[in-house]
Amino acid sequence: MQVSKQWPHGKVGFIMCCAVGGAKLGGRKVGEMRERIIVALDVPTRAEAFHLVKQLAGWVGAYKVGMQLYNSEGPDIVRDIQLMGGRVFVDLKFHDIPNTVAQTSRVMARRLAFMYTVHAGGGSKMLRAAAQAAAEEADILKVEKPLAIGVTVLTSITQQEFEQEMGMKMPIVEHVVALAKLAQQAGLDGVVCSPQEIAPVRAACGHKLLIITPGVRPNWAATDDQARIMTPGEAIQAGASYLVIGRPIIKAPNPREAAQRIAEEMNKAATQLLTPPA
Ligand code: C5P
Repeated sequence: MQVSKQWPHGKVGFIMCCAVGGAKLGGRKVGEMRERIIVALDVPTRAEAFHLVKQLAGWVGAYKVGMQLYNSEGPDIVRDIQLMGGRVFVDLKFHDIPNTVAQTSRVMARRLAFMYTVHAGGGSKMLRAAAQAAAEEADILKVEKPLAIGVTVLTSITQQEFEQEMGMKMPIVEHVVALAKLAQQAGLDGVVCSPQEIAPVRAACGHKLLIITPGVRPNWAATDDQARIMTPGEAIQAGASYLVIGRPIIKAPNPREAAQRIAEEMNKAATQLLTPPA
């Protein structure tokens, strides 16, 4: 396959990895972009979550269980979604001393989480401890290692807050890139960042680091409270690995149809990225 040299190496490298058999995404083809949709199950009850999982089975790659659902229904919600055939992204954003986060990372492996989050700002000792513990525990249990993902700077933080409340004197994007590098060096599998930061992170960290992006909105969906958004196609073209999408799917009159439309848009974008200019 020929690709133009004018495209950023990391981005095309990442897409090619997925298209022709990259290890991280298990050799998925461009035609299987639906695997890169992670649906945020931002609902308060097990019943509502199950209803969505039933409707979306086979049409998306994973389900994100965040604080709301996890804390209202308890950790068994992870197992119950898995029993329905879904992979679960446990998004609880761990941030504590290295030993505590490492032991909790072992729990993530025991719960067979597909991926889970820690705050990249917890520092390299914490990140390294988390990545090592998750890998060790998975090895002991002979299960697939959960992907350890570092949350960089929350997209709700403004530049003004960043400077005035956190004492930081740089553009947020610079700090996001620095945290992504730290996470990568510590052995994490990927990072969460806003759509605007995908390209700089991809450029700085290469094609192996997974980039997970919320704040994605198709043109046909409401923007809700998300401010710095990109369409699914734009996010894929910028180099995203997985898109976390909530309301455009879970609040759609037909969630499966919404997921299908989004996957088609992602497919189109990935195909364009792989097609050499005439
Ligand atoms: O409904 P929507 O598509 O906006 O949902 C996005 C999901 O991604 C929510 O679960 C939200 O908590 C999460 N998220 C986010 N911005 C971040 C981190 C996580 O929107 N910086």
